Amino acid sequence: MRGDFFMDIWRIRGGKKLAGVCFVQGSKNASLPILAASILGPAESELHNVPQLKDIDAALRILRHLGCVAEQRDNEVYINANGVTNCSISHKLMLEMRSSVIFMGALLARCGEARLSPPGGCQLGKRPIDLHLDALRRLGAEIDDSGGEIICRAGDLRGTEIALPFPSVGATENIMLAATAAKGETVIRGAAREPEIGALQDYLRRMGCEVHGAGTDTIVIGQRRPVRHIDHRILSDRIVAATVACAAAACGGSVELRGVEPGHFSTVLHFLKQAGCDIMCQNRSVWLRSGGKLHAVGEISTEPYPGFPTDAQPVLMAALLKAKGRTLIRETIFENRFRQVPELVRLGADITLHDRTAEIRGVDSLRGTALSATDLRGGAAMIVAGLSAEGETLVYDAGHIRRGYERFDTRLRALGADICLDQSYV
Ligand code: UD1
Repeated sequence: MRGDFFMDIWRIRGGKKLAGVCFVQGSKNASLPILAASILGPAESELHNVPQLKDIDAALRILRHLGCVAEQRDNEVYINANGVTNCSISHKLMLEMRSSVIFMGALLARCGEARLSPPGGCQLGKRPIDLHLDALRRLGAEIDDSGGEIICRAGDLRGTEIALPFPSVGATENIMLAATAAKGETVIRGAAREPEIGALQDYLRRMGCEVHGAGTDTIVIGQRRPVRHIDHRILSDRIVAATVACAAAACGGSVELRGVEPGHFSTVLHFLKQAGCDIMCQNRSVWLRSGGKLHAVGEISTEPYPGFPTDAQPVLMAALLKAKGRTLIRETIFENRFRQVPELVRLGADITLHDRTAEIRGVDSLRGTALSATDLRGGAAMIVAGLSAEGETLVYDAGHIRRGYERFDTRLRALGADICLDQSYV
């Protein structure tokens, strides 16, 4: 009988070594702000290396809802933003993708108005947007967030200096987008330094904006002169690269990650090296060899970039479940980012949670069983753990993993993993 829920079911037979070349997909977190930025002016954008993912589909639907032509074919996206007529995003569309809050700054810049519903909490925790709203107010926007909808209006945006008390990635992006329409210069101090901010700066420059400083904690945004056509390639996904590296480290084998920027996930590579992997980085490629027997790495703490990324925390944890000794992982960014832990324990992992710190004591073996994906990176961690477990692991997933990983089963099979993705009602 047909059940109620449509599920992805990842079936993994663990214990295979991974070997071969993995071409890493384009970055989801770089693509989404750039898709929002595409509405800043009446221009056409051609974007290359855009991953085919549920979150990208959701962003393209938002663009069409706002009045753009927005199409994806394979990894190419075409956007024509000449006809932006709408400045509001429905609650339903907002719910599909949390990063839709990034459209707030872009809509303010393009239309002088933005209406959207608050993104609300998510699996990782509360995820407030107070820093976004405070910063947009400093630029001159009037914002009413007292009801069920956030209503932003700006007759004139004025460049100013904004000091962020925390280097929020989303807030930095929203300020950069809104500031392109401000009179005078905007200076962001305490800005996020993630590579995705640099990618947004590159795109904005192609769009005719004066922006510099991305990658440092001070970003300066001037005005935008009209450009009709933008051609831009999305950078590779450092978290997907980190995930495949963690899978190879846990399973053993020899894998080359191609098309990557090694410097963008060097903190993850640092810990994998410390755990016993041989790693060689070249221009746009990383080669990793692992005997499959790792050692614990002491202490890891998630930090804003260039520190260890919160997004890679669950997958590195999964790689270290059988590492000899004890590893402590402290999560400082999101309050609820250990949701994968009870599921990993069901595979036989020995993990204790003390508030925001997870203590992992390496076990000799993991045994495959049925798991439920809790969130995007937590789900990816279950796949990494399943690949290094004995027997069969099933990861039941309400679509979390496909939000961020493009053809993940195919890419892992190409490395010799025994994994397949079924979709069915359960
Ligand atoms: C975060 C990650 C980013 C990752 C992305 C996707 C960090 C610093 N940011 O970005 O690397 O790619 O998730 O998973 O690791 N906060 C507030 N008020 C705000 C905005 C944020 O208090 O207005 C707090 C959040 O609750 C959280 C922290 O700041 O504790 C990080 O937020 P932020 O960088 O804004 O999150 P994302 O942009 O989602």
